[in-house]
Amino acid sequence: MSESATISDGMISVEREGDLCVLNWTDGRKEGFHSLWLRDNCQCADCLHPQTRERLFDLMTLDPNSDLIDHLETQNGSLFVTWSDGHQSQFSERWLHEHAYGEDARQARREKPTLWTSEVKNSLPEINYEKVMSGDEGLLSFLDMLCDYGFALIRQTPTRDLEVTRVASRISFLRETNFGREFDVISKPNPNNVAYTALELQSHSDLPNWEVPPGTQFLHCLEFDAEGGESTLVDGFAAARQLQSMSPEDFDLLCQLRIPFRFHDSDWDIRRSATTLALDSFEELEEIRFHSALTAPLDIPSDQVLPFYRAYRALTEIIRKPENILKLKLRPGDLLVFNNRRALHGRAAFDPNTGPRHLQGCYVDNDDVMSKRRVLRRRL
Ligand SMILES: [Fe+2]
Repeated sequence: MSESATISDGMISVEREGDLCVLNWTDGRKEGFHSLWLRDNCQCADCLHPQTRERLFDLMTLDPNSDLIDHLETQNGSLFVTWSDGHQSQFSERWLHEHAYGEDARQARREKPTLWTSEVKNSLPEINYEKVMSGDEGLLSFLDMLCDYGFALIRQTPTRDLEVTRVASRISFLRETNFGREFDVISKPNPNNVAYTALELQSHSDLPNWEVPPGTQFLHCLEFDAEGGESTLVDGFAAARQLQSMSPEDFDLLCQLRIPFRFHDSDWDIRRSATTLALDSFEELEEIRFHSALTAPLDIPSDQVLPFYRAYRALTEIIRKPENILKLKLRPGDLLVFNNRRALHGRAAFDPNTGPRHLQGCYVDNDDVMSKRRVLRRRL
């Protein structure tokens, strides 16, 4: 995963090139900042609330067509700007470096996930419960693995009822859904979800029928004596990239075409249309929604139906390839944590007559996970 580069050398001068203030760093780099952008991001206490660090400055007070800058200079590692209305701004070299928006700087700040196949079983991202629970370093290591691989295993978690919620609460609030604050994955009579049977579960993401599907899922193995029932994980982003290289038009269609998802029982009817794959502004994969059981009858333009089925089948074939599937036989005390919007999960069928299989789960939103990681990084 990329880290933003540290400043190797200071800036030495600034010059104007049209709309841009161009800073020259001593290592030869140049970084352009628009004068309007600099004025909008003035760091003084009148423009930026000193406590909340929220913007007070009103962009609409400026005429963007006038020449905003009266004077520019660099001194002692800072950029000083005197604006044409007399206002003054100071920007530190570090702040400018951290907020530079040239292509190289933006690329250097990108998170690049480590994509994986079943081979990841030889070097599983795993950590001991005590480390996660007892100190910030352990929690941060766990969050780093989770963000990089899209999953991590916590070993030797005490097999206590609701321990899963205590671990998840190390990060933040739990995300409640129509399945409750926490849920027990166990074969039940009269199930409202195939997860609560002993049937095989093909790889899927949970709750794609929500506007915002839960981000991170925690599944804690409390009891497991049944035959079968191995857990499976597939890196949805790696699968999507394989599809892109085999069939770019199928990949593009799954990024563009919204399809309907729906969950309904006697108390709920939750529906959302969304694309199967979603990309961020760097064309990096951001999300996969994939759950055949919750895909509603397609109500998409007629001429898109067959292209969709073709693309969806191509992606499903990749997701079902044994070389893409990580198989894990969870043992009591194992706590599997994964990004539900990246890693697809499933399980083999099991025979409930051979012994119990009881997992307890809950969710935390990805915003909370990533926020916790940033705060810990800053602190440590
Ligand atoms: Fe599930």
